[in-house]
Amino acid sequence: MPDFLTLDDIDVRGKRVLLRADLNVPVRDGVVTDATRIERLAPTIETLIGKGAAVVVMSHFGRPDGKPDTKFSLRPVLAPLRRALGGREVAFAEDCVGEKAERAVGALRPGQVVLLENLRFHPGEEANSPDFARALAALGEVYIDDAFSAAHRAHASIAALAGLLPAAAGKLMEAELGALSAALEHPARPVVALVGGAKVSTKLDLLRFVIGKVDVLAIGGAMANTLLFAQGISVGRSLCERDMADGARQLMALAGERNCRVVLPEDVVVAPELAAGVASRTVPVGAVAEDMMILDIGPETVKRIGVALETARTLVWNGPLGAFETPPFDHGTAAVAQKVGELTRAKKLLSVAGGGDTVAALAAAGLIDDLSYVSTAGGAFLEWLEGRQLPGVAALAAAARRG
Ligand code: 3PG
Ligand code: MG
Repeated sequence: MPDFLTLDDIDVRGKRVLLRADLNVPVRDGVVTDATRIERLAPTIETLIGKGAAVVVMSHFGRPDGKPDTKFSLRPVLAPLRRALGGREVAFAEDCVGEKAERAVGALRPGQVVLLENLRFHPGEEANSPDFARALAALGEVYIDDAFSAAHRAHASIAALAGLLPAAAGKLMEAELGALSAALEHPARPVVALVGGAKVSTKLDLLRFVIGKVDVLAIGGAMANTLLFAQGISVGRSLCERDMADGARQLMALAGERNCRVVLPEDVVVAPELAAGVASRTVPVGAVAEDMMILDIGPETVKRIGVALETARTLVWNGPLGAFETPPFDHGTAAVAQKVGELTRAKKLLSVAGGGDTVAALAAAGLIDDLSYVSTAGGAFLEWLEGRQLPGVAALAAAARRG
């Protein structure tokens, strides 16, 4: 884990703290439909208030492309933020820099909280503009980054700003980095990676990195079809990247070199089309008819993954194992999640999952709380699984070196 300061290392009493959050939450008709990111941020705000700070919360929301747009206002987040803080009042500033922001922040006393309007209403945010970062820095004395899920963006409020003020990680950032580090940097072995999703092509870097780190790689989802096809197995009408066959064979060769055992489906659930409730059946791989599509892993494969998990001590999971949004093709993912939950509850397994679809699949199975850690991050989790340096994490490490 890169070294970074935490809330324990930094004096915030009587100070205005700029808190970079990721309040990029799903909103429908002006109502937040999933408040997870807001709820996971609350302990950081409570801690800062407990230490006598005034808290200035800033975030992006959506992709308004550098100009104000009411469709992308952070206002809908205010009510759930107040709720997450036990009903505490949260003020709102209609701009994140300039006069409106300065007035709102100037009125703030220790123990009070203000939410600034969307950072991406200004082009300087995504451009990582030093001027825009200075305008933000003028609003406070300390910078706390609690936005792990946006740490893959080299934007002004994440990168440049961290260089202008004493900077530390918030509690959520600390928890995310701790969990990810426990899963891949200093894991208890054996480590299993469970990787699913539609395409090998979008996860080539991820698969290469993971193969170098883990003892067992179990693959599901449509990306498994490409790997099966590359081994000469007929996949019928399944989603399959036929032009990736060479890349798939190279991955298998790399796994051999790195002593990473690859678990591919041995039985699959097939149907003539992807539709809810369509007649489906389970067949061994190698017996997929030409007019059929593979839509989920079968029970033998679930069992085989389960056996690998029973001897594992650490699991990192990204990607659903079947077309989980369309029942009955959610069964494989749900059954594996159940097994992961059992082993985690029994303290036999440390389980870490992340990525938008993965979290949706776990939520649909009602198993989010059964894993050791489920990341709030989508893209940032993926980039971290590719072994990439995340700008937000690098900025905190630089701040820690500065002292
Ligand atoms: C996310 O929701 O993944 C983060 O908030 C990043 O959002 P972005 O992809 O629009 O940069
Ligand atoms: Mg995104």
